[in-house]
Amino acid sequence: MRKPFVAGNWKMNTNGQTSVQLAKRIAEGSAETAGHDVTVAVCPPFVYLQAVTKALSSSSIAVGAQDIYFEPDGAFTGEISPAMLKDTGCTYCLCGHSERRHVIGETDELINKKVAAAISGGLLPILCVGELLSERQASKTNEVITRQLKQGLAGLSAAKLSAVTIAYEPVWAIGTGVTATPEQAQEAHDFIRTLVGRMYNGQVAEEIRILYGGSVKPGNAAELMNCKDIDGLLVGGASLKADDFLAIIQATV
Ligand code: 13P
Repeated sequence: MRKPFVAGNWKMNTNGQTSVQLAKRIAEGSAETAGHDVTVAVCPPFVYLQAVTKALSSSSIAVGAQDIYFEPDGAFTGEISPAMLKDTGCTYCLCGHSERRHVIGETDELINKKVAAAISGGLLPILCVGELLSERQASKTNEVITRQLKQGLAGLSAAKLSAVTIAYEPVWAIGTGVTATPEQAQEAHDFIRTLVGRMYNGQVAEEIRILYGGSVKPGNAAELMNCKDIDGLLVGGASLKADDFLAIIQATV
């Protein structure tokens, strides 16, 4: 049985005060379920990680970073190492979010280094994959997911894969209000699980959690979670509103 997992990606939002307020309200509202029935994580901007970790220290809500750099230290201006993230109290870290792929220009090769460095540094990476609208329209969804998964996980043993969560986020559904239908999402999740089974083995495929992301709202969370291969949700916009995020958490248990 895979425990449901809800992660909030705050992206480049909140400030010093609102990040802590939001974290506290989520902790209060999910005290009964978070950590027991559902894994809950929030991913604030780097600069608020420490304050949010502190605000959540007596809760079961985990904290994740939105990105990571693969080198341990040195002359990499602006970058944040795995050890630094550990130091702030992070448990998770997003790798290869679509905005980093398509706005910042990250490659599968770079993302692979980040996933490997996160695991070596004791963090749990959430590897994000997903196709552009043009790729879906050209029937290339499976091809794109295959490339992103094979290259993103290259060189990782089955033992290391147990640290990884995969998030399927079709780019055309992110921040657009257009959600993949449960059928579209389930089809992609089933494809991902089958592919992981072929790349590793059946047990690894059964155990890995695959989250759906892209315009998740309180109104569509339950129907997405009803799909056999959707194990949780990666939430952007709706994770910035405590009531909406709490309703989404509740829909997964
Ligand atoms: P939205 O929920 O705002 O569509 O964002 C999804 C996302 O990118 C989460 O990582």
